[in-house]
Amino acid sequence: MSKLLEINNLCVDYVSPNGIARAVNNVSISIAEGETLGIAGESGCGKSTLAFAISRLHKAPALISEGEILYKGQDVLKMNDKALREFRWNEVSVVFQSAMNSLNPVITIGEQLTDVMLAHKKVTPKQAYEKAAELLQTVGIHPDRLSAFPHQLSGGMRQRVVIAVALALEPKLIIMDEPTTALDVVVEREILNELYDLKAKFGFSILFISHDLSLMGEIADRIGVMYAGNMIELGEAKTVFSEPQHPYTQGLISSFPTIHGPKERLYGIPGNPVNLLQIPQGCNFQARCSHCFEPCTEHEPVLKTIAPEHHVSCHLV
Ligand SMILES: Nc1ncnc2c1ncn2[C@@H]1O[C@H](COP(=O)(O)OP(=O)(O)OP(=O)(O)O)[C@@H](O)[C@H]1O
Ligand SMILES: [Mg+2]
Repeated sequence: MSKLLEINNLCVDYVSPNGIARAVNNVSISIAEGETLGIAGESGCGKSTLAFAISRLHKAPALISEGEILYKGQDVLKMNDKALREFRWNEVSVVFQSAMNSLNPVITIGEQLTDVMLAHKKVTPKQAYEKAAELLQTVGIHPDRLSAFPHQLSGGMRQRVVIAVALALEPKLIIMDEPTTALDVVVEREILNELYDLKAKFGFSILFISHDLSLMGEIADRIGVMYAGNMIELGEAKTVFSEPQHPYTQGLISSFPTIHGPKERLYGIPGNPVNLLQIPQGCNFQARCSHCFEPCTEHEPVLKTIAPEHHVSCHLV
């Protein structure tokens, strides 16, 4: 599979009078055509910051201080306005966290869908309208709701509309930041199943961000686990689940119930995430790690390749 997106040593900082908080630290990932890469990690670990940076939608005080983002070999950070507009609309689309609240409340669903197509594609209003009806149907909403306003739809329906908007320009990559977290599990499941049907039909790649590792295990080909801005484990989904190597990944997995496996006691991860303004010397996870030993307090671990598709950043491995 050829690489669609390649990110090398990306660093994103939030600059404030109190100091510089590095929310994404030296992250390198790639996404192949048609692949789903999941990014997991607890609240505040830098998932959304990474999503914003990839689409270059980050705003001050966020600053990309190092690294490169290559899309089909082209450096996104060096794109001019025209190329960036093309990249953002026609190549990549983003479904942001709480996106269902981002629909314009005073414009009908139909208009919001057709506006996107009219602005960025060579289509007539009639063609755009027909395509909007088709898109709505693909995400499981009856086309007669085209004339509805967002407040006339349920949360799940609004989230489907947002996904329909994201699909309108047939992007090659969809970045989804917790697309279903605000919804109940039944609706979440329905939407994810639809997403998978759509992926089979259109063949796009997905960068899927969630704090829910069990959900990720079902939908992602590979999973990256982030902790305090660092990618601490990256591998094929089934390997990360069956043989997690980093104590943080092990903790995350044992803190979620399995749907199919036997009933087991759940264990959380003690302690709180580190303050990004007071990063300790050595490993960021040391204060919460029961395996912490000497090198952990001295040296920052680096991501090591322990098997062809499995990388871990921990002194234990
Ligand atoms: N505007 C900002 N100014 C300063 N720091 C910020 C800002 N936005 C985010 N941060 C910090 O950057 C870190 C990463 O935030 P981010 O929103 O990327 O986390 P996340 O993994 O998406 O979390 P969640 O799961 O809660 O959405 C956090 O520690 C947060 O406090
Ligand atoms: Mg987030």
